[in-house]
Amino acid sequence: MLKVSKILIDRQENPAALSEPTPYLGWQLESDRQNVHQTAYRICIRDGLMPFWDSGRITGSESAAVRYAGPPLNEECRYTLELTVWDNHGESTQGKAEFSTALFAPRFLTAQWITHTLAENHSECPVFVRHFSAEPVQKARLYLSACGIYTVRLNGQEVSQDWFAPGWTEYASRLQYQVYDVTALIQPENTLEITTANGWYAGYLNGTRQVYGKQTAIFAELSLTCMDSHRVTVATDVRWQWYLGQHREAEFYHGERIDRTAVPTAPQPVVLAEDLNAHAPALVPQQCEPVRVLERRAPVQLLHTPDGTPILDFGQNMAGVVRLDWQGSPGQEITLRFAEALTPDGSLYTANLRTAKATDTFVCSGGKDTFVPRFTYHGFRYVSIAGMGGNPPLDAFTALVLGTDAAATAQFSCSSPLVNRLWANIVWGQRSNFVDVPTDCPQRDERLGWTGDAAVFCRTAAQNEDVYRFFRKWLADLAIGQAADGGVPHIVPNVNGQGSGGAAVWCDAAVTIPWTLYELYGERDILERQYPSMKAWVEYMRRQETPDHLRQCGFQHGDWLALDREEGRGNRGSTDAYLIASAYYAHCTRLLAKAAAVLGKAQEVAEYTALHRAICSGFQQEYITATGRVVGETQTALALILLFDLARAEHRDHIAQSLVQNLDKHQGHLTTGFIGTPILMDALSKIGRNDLAGKLLLNEDFPGWLYEVRCGATTMWERWDSVRPDGSFDESGMNSFNHYAFGAVGDWLLEQLVGIRPAEPGYRAITLQPQLIHGITQACALRTTPYGRVRLAWQCLNHLITVEVEIPANTTAQLFLPEQEGSITLGSGSYQYSYATETDLTPQRFTMDTPLRTMLADADAKAVLSAALPGMLDGPAAAFLAGKSFNDLKGMMPGGEALFAQLLTKLNQLC
Ligand code: BGC
Repeated sequence: MLKVSKILIDRQENPAALSEPTPYLGWQLESDRQNVHQTAYRICIRDGLMPFWDSGRITGSESAAVRYAGPPLNEECRYTLELTVWDNHGESTQGKAEFSTALFAPRFLTAQWITHTLAENHSECPVFVRHFSAEPVQKARLYLSACGIYTVRLNGQEVSQDWFAPGWTEYASRLQYQVYDVTALIQPENTLEITTANGWYAGYLNGTRQVYGKQTAIFAELSLTCMDSHRVTVATDVRWQWYLGQHREAEFYHGERIDRTAVPTAPQPVVLAEDLNAHAPALVPQQCEPVRVLERRAPVQLLHTPDGTPILDFGQNMAGVVRLDWQGSPGQEITLRFAEALTPDGSLYTANLRTAKATDTFVCSGGKDTFVPRFTYHGFRYVSIAGMGGNPPLDAFTALVLGTDAAATAQFSCSSPLVNRLWANIVWGQRSNFVDVPTDCPQRDERLGWTGDAAVFCRTAAQNEDVYRFFRKWLADLAIGQAADGGVPHIVPNVNGQGSGGAAVWCDAAVTIPWTLYELYGERDILERQYPSMKAWVEYMRRQETPDHLRQCGFQHGDWLALDREEGRGNRGSTDAYLIASAYYAHCTRLLAKAAAVLGKAQEVAEYTALHRAICSGFQQEYITATGRVVGETQTALALILLFDLARAEHRDHIAQSLVQNLDKHQGHLTTGFIGTPILMDALSKIGRNDLAGKLLLNEDFPGWLYEVRCGATTMWERWDSVRPDGSFDESGMNSFNHYAFGAVGDWLLEQLVGIRPAEPGYRAITLQPQLIHGITQACALRTTPYGRVRLAWQCLNHLITVEVEIPANTTAQLFLPEQEGSITLGSGSYQYSYATETDLTPQRFTMDTPLRTMLADADAKAVLSAALPGMLDGPAAAFLAGKSFNDLKGMMPGGEALFAQLLTKLNQLC
């Protein structure tokens, strides 16, 4: 039977405050038949009982990203949407959704911006208050925004569970407002209280404070519709007052102080925020999912530092706060200090927080208290506790995990527990750093929307969660922050001011992110919105190009944090920064031409296609010799050239060979940074060397993804050597344990290892192409695409390959079965295949090239080695031997070849 399983309006189910007057619509179909596709649909929208728009029966298979084609929706209305769908089997079905619209531009709000009279440069949290009487109401809506961040209570009840409202946008231009339905909270006598904190607006940010303004301010309007339908408004004006309550101080970096003994200060009159009233930023409805508590976690153990200070271990690095439920003595002061790691002696490792104090302080009332900081967050796994004695009870503490509340759209698992942990670390990296904007890290004094980090992680992020609206909001701010010459800020919202644009990859986010969103979500809307910004950035580069169409100027981050950096070259890696910039100039120009094609701009397609060709030829002249050798053959340079098709056809094999040789020189290890890492595996897959990609992925020794996992990482590290093989920490001052850039390998796991990728934008057509790699015997992923659920599970065990696939209605897939010729075209439905193979993928954890150090890290392997090489592994040559592999050692002793081959088999049997 055909069924509508989901209806999405601007990608939301039954939205309560739709911010788009002409939204994109989408629906997902389910059927127990195979090969189901839609032949026609009809959409009817009603405003209450009145028909508002009827699309009529429309022949066609479009079911995702369908532009609403009726008259613009009215503001503040409640609509019903009825959908009818017909399929190719002669079935039809109906689905229904409801939605309400926001105020698209809150023109008729009469509120005024008000502020308090605290001295400047404080971190206090003023509470704005208004008492009012009300007659019974049919409806009560509260419109609210603030400079700073706010929480709101009506008659003592929290109105919303969203955090850090109104969110972070390019504040000088636009500020979000929220709308809350508070009908149920209205009483005859009411108290409306709005607490503010500096937040991003006036707080410490990026080495300074008060980036946007000096004081917090609010703008609120409560609209009461009485029983007889007349409207009464309670809006911010000089009748409001302010006082200081119990949230005494709060800053994102430094933490919060809540004092339950504090007597609220006497209410004082507010003042009008004249500047804001004269030049207020545009108020826009909330653009994406808010930050919320995503999960609650209990501590897993209590530890103690050498001096006996108790430390809670939550077992997982995360972004959030800790709630304390506790009855202390009156005035008892409890301090929580947050950190991501412990030093080798078991103390809190805080060096990587830089100036962030990351400390919350709670003062007890004497009764039962609950402390929940609402105006700060920390990046942490460990929390040291002062003021509760040596053994505070674990059940008094709960970690509240905070992050943007976007829907999860991917599940992944495979036969390797280490790779599964890597996947979890990637997901945690995203949860911890998508905090209203895509941030670099949640712990130190930064937490900024670095464009490069977002650019390289976007493809993984967009498969993992539905981040379309999250990025749409952020890209709008990127475009606002773009300079008149098209230069793109390196941080969005732009806290660096003008003139900060120019670096490759970071600025290229203006082009690469909209294109990635289009590919994965299929909504051309994002290209329509961003095209002017995309084009402005390409034109910026074009104005600066050399006569050979290369990008060879301006500040560059280079292959940020690559391991192949030369002494004294800081963080940039040794790949020529202008090679990277020119490669990305070509890449972005090609993407712009593709975007122009989607938008039907034929002349610009021709123009940018020609420019792309010219850049490629300039690139070949500058960076590739006549025989196909790359100048400055780093892994990153080679991967860029291969993945972006920058070389002439006759040179590609040679360049592919150079990449293989380079990896070989590094014993199958990567040397790449932010630029090379996200593409290295893809480049290897592209040249047909999934075997090498597999080896690279599964390396357990330094450097590599699983090295971190074996060191106990629960999120992605900023650097490969955040913890060095000798256990010491990197000391550069940039050592975050929660940075997602290297987690960009996540899309390889889904798109190559499991093998689910879009063949057409939005997964209208799907490629299913699993890759068998040695060391992994099975892998499975579930992806929620705009058409519904795609599942692929493969297994290669006991000489039998099994592949199961599930394809959503209204799509088709091309399935490439491992070790089989050609491909199979499939319509929707579930399918299973199994066939015999000679292949054995059983993990070979160690090879003849594995350094002994890696083997010795495993207790069982150490026992086998110690028995086979008595006395040698703890004798004077121990350090020398630890760095050698069986291949290095086999020639050094008689019978070595046979001895080490036998030993290797024995060691691998242990796994
Ligand atoms: C951030 C990075 C960022 C970089 C660029 C760092 O401090 O944490 O992730 O992209 O600066 O310079």
